[in-house]
Amino acid sequence: MVESSGNEFALRMVNIEKYFGPVRALKNINLEVGSNEIVGLIGDNGAGKSTMVKILTGVFLPTSGELWVGGRKVDLSSYNVKRAHEYGLETVYQDKSLGEKQALWRNFFIGRQIANRFGFIDVKKEKEIASEIMLNTIGFRGRGITVDSKVNKLSGGERQGVAIGRAMHFEAEIIVLDEPTVALSLKEVRKVLNFVHQIKAAGKACIYISHSLADVYEISDRFVVLDRGEVVANIVKKDIGLKELDEFLLDYAHGLKDREES
Ligand SMILES: Nc1ncnc2c1ncn2[C@@H]1O[C@H](COP(=O)(O)OP(=O)(O)OP(=O)(O)O)[C@@H](O)[C@H]1O
Ligand SMILES: [Mg+2]
Repeated sequence: MVESSGNEFALRMVNIEKYFGPVRALKNINLEVGSNEIVGLIGDNGAGKSTMVKILTGVFLPTSGELWVGGRKVDLSSYNVKRAHEYGLETVYQDKSLGEKQALWRNFFIGRQIANRFGFIDVKKEKEIASEIMLNTIGFRGRGITVDSKVNKLSGGERQGVAIGRAMHFEAEIIVLDEPTVALSLKEVRKVLNFVHQIKAAGKACIYISHSLADVYEISDRFVVLDRGEVVANIVKKDIGLKELDEFLLDYAHGLKDREES
């Protein structure tokens, strides 16, 4: 059993395997995420991180294994992206998660429109809620951004914030972020990291994937290291410093290289 800051698991992957044709992309993956835990998922290119995310969020089905979300065993035969939302799992992709030319308020309600009693979209209500999310969940204040602003006017970090705010408002229990800071400036990266701190403060769970170790280190409670489809280390933050974690990963990579050469 791994340590977690919550008293129950938000998520468990049990003996998950994934083949792409003959290629075994994930081998016997066991992962647990506490209900208010931020887990940093680290590993080289091609290690299988995004494949894990896609299995969690219903994009791919695993070849075998079990998935448990919030104490419930997922029926994989009918699992998909929509079901994942119903289980309280949300993911934020780098750019495709937001409609470019849409007004912000519309963006909060894609796939979950509020209808008025005539069956039309309740624009007033949707704008009110969007405005509430922007002020209270993501804290957009006085930056000249309103619910009517177009998405393409937002910076990369702000877009991530909108997507995270949307996920938090619609009561995602677990928010999965796969490389949310790619192509962002340092200032924008800071915004995204602050949003992840807000996920923690709101009592939710998060899986955070990034090649930037300092970022992962800052926001995570625990690190899970993936190498060529396998979990090779599981380290609680209090047991390791950033420098040590960096050295551990380097040593690990060198060890593998030495073994290959011998
Ligand atoms: N749809 C697919 N079809 C076939 N092979 C795939 C598919 N998706 C991923 N793979 C393979 O699975 C392995 C893991 O890929 P994955 O994208 O999960 O890695 P990653 O850890 O996210 O890497 P990166 O850090 O570069 O994003 C790779 O060898 C990749 O080529
Ligand atoms: Mg990836």
